[in-house]
Amino acid sequence: MTLLVLAASCCLACALIPITYLTYLTFIWPRRNPITSLPGPPSNRLFEMRHMTLVMDPRKSTHMHQHFVDEYGRNTYIRGPLPWDQRLFTLDPVTMSHVLQHTTIYEKPYPSRQLISGLIGVGMLSAEGQVHKRQRRVAIPAFSIQAMRALVPLVFRKGTVLKEKWMSIIKEAGVASGEGHVMDVCRWASRATFDVMGTAGFDYEFNAIQNDDNELLKAYVEMFEVAVSRQSGGWRPIITAYLPWLDKLFPNDTVRFVAKCQTVIERVAGRLIQEKKRKIAEAEEKGQVYQGKDLLSLLLKSNSSIDIPLEQRISDQDILHNINTFMFAGTDTTSLALTWILYLCAVYQDVQDRLRTELLSVLPPAPVESLTEDEIQSLYASVSESPYLENVIREAMRLIPPVHSSIRVATKDDMVPVSTPIKRKAADGVITEEAVSQIFVPKGTFIHVPIEGFNLDKGFWGPTAWGFNPDRWNDLPEPVKAIPGLYNHLLTFSAGPRACIGTRMSAIELKSFLFALITNFKFSPAPGVEIGKANVVLTRPYVRGKERAGSALPLLVTPYVHDT
Ligand code: HEM
Ligand SMILES: *[C@@H]1O[C@H](CO)[C@@H](O)[C@H](O)[C@H]1NC(C)=O
Ligand SMILES: *[C@@H]1O[C@H](CO)[C@@H](O)[C@H](O)[C@H]1NC(C)=O
Repeated sequence: MTLLVLAASCCLACALIPITYLTYLTFIWPRRNPITSLPGPPSNRLFEMRHMTLVMDPRKSTHMHQHFVDEYGRNTYIRGPLPWDQRLFTLDPVTMSHVLQHTTIYEKPYPSRQLISGLIGVGMLSAEGQVHKRQRRVAIPAFSIQAMRALVPLVFRKGTVLKEKWMSIIKEAGVASGEGHVMDVCRWASRATFDVMGTAGFDYEFNAIQNDDNELLKAYVEMFEVAVSRQSGGWRPIITAYLPWLDKLFPNDTVRFVAKCQTVIERVAGRLIQEKKRKIAEAEEKGQVYQGKDLLSLLLKSNSSIDIPLEQRISDQDILHNINTFMFAGTDTTSLALTWILYLCAVYQDVQDRLRTELLSVLPPAPVESLTEDEIQSLYASVSESPYLENVIREAMRLIPPVHSSIRVATKDDMVPVSTPIKRKAADGVITEEAVSQIFVPKGTFIHVPIEGFNLDKGFWGPTAWGFNPDRWNDLPEPVKAIPGLYNHLLTFSAGPRACIGTRMSAIELKSFLFALITNFKFSPAPGVEIGKANVVLTRPYVRGKERAGSALPLLVTPYVHDT
């Protein structure tokens, strides 16, 4: 009897611990967090979904960011969906820099890492601490300037393949000379970047531009689509992000489908890794150095280089997870960038014409298909140095960053510097201004990283910040220089030690494809089609009224006939 009572009270005690902790997190912690005294949009709910929509939905966020700055100042308090999801929303460049630079304090929050690693494993994107450091260290040589330069011919030729494919589709459609054909640019850009990542990433031909029935390609594309871009929303993903084992216990269709894709990926990509290791070993036995230029070869070589201490080496599993990560982080981001640039060119015909004139001026007399590797390198050098192309890409990446926003969490209490006055909200709702140089951010506070917010901030970019004007890059306003960013004062590729590792690679892809497409086709809006934006992990285009069909960006594509 006493044993039974003892057992029962033990159970009760065990249940009490999580309940007490949840109660603390829900009711006590939020009230004690000093950042709640920063002003922000009103909220009086336990579960607050609206704030996330305000700052994450690209149809609202631009105006909302402006409204926040005008109304509440550059450091604002907003709420995530769960009661303990207390967020600092900052459009203060000094504050943002601090958060993005101090990666040992500000990590990616557990739920978001969980979502990513559940899909692609613990690669560079979702790892933290020593694991991340090791992976990034091994990967850096694979993304060096020289390594990227070696990829140029390979990427450039994919541009020609895409152009040829489009020409043949347009021909087959039987459109009269001088007339156009409506193509879903978003889908084609996606195939093209997957193809590039296959060859440049792991020396593997998906042939995705020609056909899309490759087993490995399908596993990746469908996994990302089902698990990310076709998210149904609701509470389940929010809960399973915290409690991932629930998915194992109660799998639904999505979970089962993802597991099936992962099995294919592990089998096929796993085999590629073993083959590559064998080739490298074979070359070594013959006293040679393996010549592979793809990221997988370089990762493997880097792992065995004497520069890397033994304890910083990575495993086969790490390699697979990083390949998955490159597929995840490097394909749709780049293809959406290309898609939005083509869209902007279609809407702004004058920009498109100027760009075409510039690119035609570097077109070689011989057909691009017949060029040698050296000739491609020198052609690419001219393309890459074309100033207007550079401006168009920068401006598009500013206006529609494919990654709309990100998030960090403070893993320690921290004093965060601020460069603009803090507004405080008293109990009676009256807002006062306070000139302080730092604010206290307790452990557990989330920090919203408004990428689009900084890119479109009128306080830095001036009154024309929301418009598309590539010429602005010839003469940037002075305040812009305060914005942190890996790439031209844009937060598009984030900043600091966790910034994008693939920026250079994406530039090679964008420039190669834009050269191939703009010199061979004219783009205009598809008649009767209205394009909308939605943020589904990435900022994607949709046809208004056909949102359910998934991302799409139909444009009218007309072959451009030039006399050479
Ligand atoms: C236009 C194209 C691209 C954009 C806009 C972009 C943007 C970003 C952003 C914003 C981050 C930071 C994410 C965060 O902090 O939450 C990031 C990280 C990353 N990107 Fe990119 N990216 C692009 C292309 C690529 C390419 C081509 C690769 C090639 C493999 C790549 C690989 C990565 C990786 C591995 C990380 C994680 C880095 C780390 O945490 O150490 N990205 N990217
Ligand atoms: C299945 O569960 C996952 C996460 O637990 C969720 O993201 C997804 O939307 C669910 N799928 C369906 C079809 O409800
Ligand atoms: C990286 O190097 C270590 C130490 O030499 C080795 O044990 C490990 O298997 C290597 N990783 C891969 C993926 O080859």
